[in-house]
Amino acid sequence: MGKQRGFIESKLKENRVFYPSIDFAQKANIDTDELERLKKWAEMDWEGFWRYFAVKKIHWFKRFEEVLDDSNPPFFRFFPGGKLNASYNCLDRHIKSWRKNKAAIIWESENGETRIMTYQELYIEVNKFANVLKTLGIKKGDRVIIYMPMIPEAAVAMLASARIGAIHSVVFGGFSSEALRDRINDAKPKVIITADGGFRNGKAIPLKSKVDEAMEELDYKVDYVVVVRHIDRDIHMKPLRDFWYQDLMSDPDYAQIYCHPEAVESNNPLFILYTSGSTGKPKGIVHSTAGYLLWTMLTMKWVFDIKDEDTFWCTADIGWITGHSYGVYGPLAMGATTVMYEGVPTYPTPAKWWELVEKHSINILYTAPTAIRALMRLGNEWVLKHNLTSLRLLGSVGEPINPEAWMWYYTTIGNERAPIVDTWWQTETGGHMITTLPGAQAAKPGSAGTPLPGIFADVVDTEGKKINDPDKGGLLVITKPWPSMLLTIWGDDKKYIDVYWKKFEDKGYYFAGDGARKDSDGYFWIMGRVDDVLNVSGHRIGTMEVESALVSHRYVAEAAVVGRPDEITGEAIVAFVVLKEGVDKSRHDEMVRELREHVQKQIGPIAKPQEIIFTDALPKTRSGKIMRRLLRDIAAGRQINQDTSTLEDATVLDKLTELKQKLEEEMNKNNSSNK
Ligand code: PRX
Repeated sequence: MGKQRGFIESKLKENRVFYPSIDFAQKANIDTDELERLKKWAEMDWEGFWRYFAVKKIHWFKRFEEVLDDSNPPFFRFFPGGKLNASYNCLDRHIKSWRKNKAAIIWESENGETRIMTYQELYIEVNKFANVLKTLGIKKGDRVIIYMPMIPEAAVAMLASARIGAIHSVVFGGFSSEALRDRINDAKPKVIITADGGFRNGKAIPLKSKVDEAMEELDYKVDYVVVVRHIDRDIHMKPLRDFWYQDLMSDPDYAQIYCHPEAVESNNPLFILYTSGSTGKPKGIVHSTAGYLLWTMLTMKWVFDIKDEDTFWCTADIGWITGHSYGVYGPLAMGATTVMYEGVPTYPTPAKWWELVEKHSINILYTAPTAIRALMRLGNEWVLKHNLTSLRLLGSVGEPINPEAWMWYYTTIGNERAPIVDTWWQTETGGHMITTLPGAQAAKPGSAGTPLPGIFADVVDTEGKKINDPDKGGLLVITKPWPSMLLTIWGDDKKYIDVYWKKFEDKGYYFAGDGARKDSDGYFWIMGRVDDVLNVSGHRIGTMEVESALVSHRYVAEAAVVGRPDEITGEAIVAFVVLKEGVDKSRHDEMVRELREHVQKQIGPIAKPQEIIFTDALPKTRSGKIMRRLLRDIAAGRQINQDTSTLEDATVLDKLTELKQKLEEEMNKNNSSNK
C-alpha cells in the first residue's frame, strides 16, 4: 500500500455518527426511502435509470439513440446520437421561465464590490460574446483557452465557448507563464481569453503579461487574445492580435444580441481541463457535453439538495474541476444562484468569508479541508462576529477531512444544524462519486460515505479481487462506466488506457489512483493517492512535475520530491536535491530561495517546495528506482523502519539518517525558540 497518512491512524478513534435533523430530512430532495429506491433502480435497470434522468433533466434538440455505446471500451459513449447545447441548458431554458430575473451569479471582490447578474443578463452577455468568438473565426471543435481571475466574464467565456460548440480549457490563473505555455502547446487554441489582471490579498496581480510571456517561444500561433479590463492598468496590447473584451462587446459588428446555440452531439467535448498525474506532463482531461451536464445537475439536486430559493457558494476557482462542475455548469443548469468571490479568505480580515455568508445569506457552502483548517486556526472570534444561520448545508472536497476540522466545520460554522457532505471525486469523474446524501444518510467525520445511486465503486486488492473484510485497505475502483466520465486524454488515447484502465484490464475497472477501505456499513474511507501524486491544499501536483522543474535549474543534477503531512495544506512538498559537481554550496539559504522561486516560475506558487534538502545522493534500489518511501519517512521526521535491503548503496542511508538527525535538531531548536 502506498502512503499512510496521519488521518488513517486516527480512524480507529473515529466512530461518531451524525444524523441529519428531522427538519432537514423532511424537506430534503432525497430522503432515506428515495435513496433506497434510486439505488435499487440503478442496480436492477441501469439503462432505464440513466435514460429516465437524461430525458427528464436535459433539454435535447434531438433525442439520443441509446443510453450507452460500449462497443469500443474503455471509450464509453453515453447517449450517442443525442443533440444538445450546454449553454442552452444553462441559460435559454431559464430565461423562458420565471427565473429570467433571478440572480444567476453573485460576484464579490475583496473590497466588497458586488455585481449581480440575472439569468437574462448572463444570457445576453454570453450570446454577445459567443458572437464575438464567431466573428474572430472560432468554430465548433476549436479550442479556447481561458486564463482569468474569478470574475463573471470567466463564466461568460466558458458558456460562450459552449454555445458555439468550441472546446474550452480553463487554465488556473495562479499557474505560471511556463505552465500556461505547455497547455497552449498541447491544446492548440485559436484564441486566449484573459484579463489585464486580478486582485488577490489586496494586490493587483498581472495576467495578460503572463500570456505575452507564454506566447514567446511558442511552437504554435494563437490568432487572438481577448483581454477583459479589470484591474485598469496600462498594459501592452499587440496590434491585430490583442483586443479589449469591452471594446468588442460594445461593437455591434461583433457583438450581436442573439447567437444561435450550436446543436452538438452528446459526446462532443465540452472542455479540456489539465490535471497532474504521476508523469511529468499534465494530462488534458476531456469531458463530454451530455453525460457531464446530466451528472452535475443530478448531484446538485441529490448531494447539495439544491432548491430554487438557495444561494449556493462553491469556493473553488474556476481553474479546477470543482469550479467547473459546481461553480458554473451544475448550479446554472439547475437554475440556481451561484456565488463567485475574487480573493483570498483572509483579506481584508479573516472574517471575509463569514461576512460574505451573512451579506448574501448563503445557504450552501462547499469548500476544501485546507481552507477549513486555515480558518479554524485563526480562531472562532472571526466567525462569531457574523450571523451564519442562513447556512443549511456544508460540503467538503479535495482531500480527506480530518475529524478535528470536520467537527469545527460542523459546530462552529454549521451550528450543529447543517449536515456535512464529504464528496469524493476527481477531475476525471466530472462530478461527485462517493458521498452521503445529506437528508438520507448519517455522516461519519472523515469518511466520504457510499457510492451515489448509479455509481458502482469498490475496494480491491492489486489483483482486482474485491476486499470483503471491513476496514482492510485496498485500491479504489469504479466498476461500471458513468455518464460524466472523462472521454479520453486530449491527443493521447493510449495514455488514457494506460493510466486508468490497464491495471484492471481483465475486469474492466477504472483505477482511480486512490487507496481506500470500506467499513462494515459500506462507508468508504479514502486513504489518499497511491501513485506519485501529491495533494497540496486539495490540488493535485505530480512529484515528477516538480522534479523536472528542479532539474531544469542549472544547479541541480537530480531531485526527488515527496509529500510530508501538513496541518493546514494536507501535504507539503519536500524536495531532496543533489547538486551538480562544482556548485558552491556555501550560499545555502540563497540557493534554496532561488530553487523555490524557480519552481514557482515553472509551475506556479502552489508547487513551490516548502522545504529543500541538499543531499549527496538519493536512496535508490539496484534497478535505479528512487526509494520514495524512505524519503517520505525522512521528510516527516519518522523513524525508518522499512526494508532497506534493496538499496543499491547502503551508505546513502547512513548519510540521510545523519541528515535527518540534523534536521530534527534544527526543528527542535526552532520549536524551543518559538516558545
Ligand atoms: O485523492 C483524491 C482526492 O483528490 C483527488 C482528485 O483530485 P482532483 O482531480 O484535483 O479533484 C479534486 C476535486 C474533485 C482524488 O483522487 N480527493 C478528492 N475529494 C476527496 C479526496 N480525498 C478524500 N476525500 C475527498 N472527499
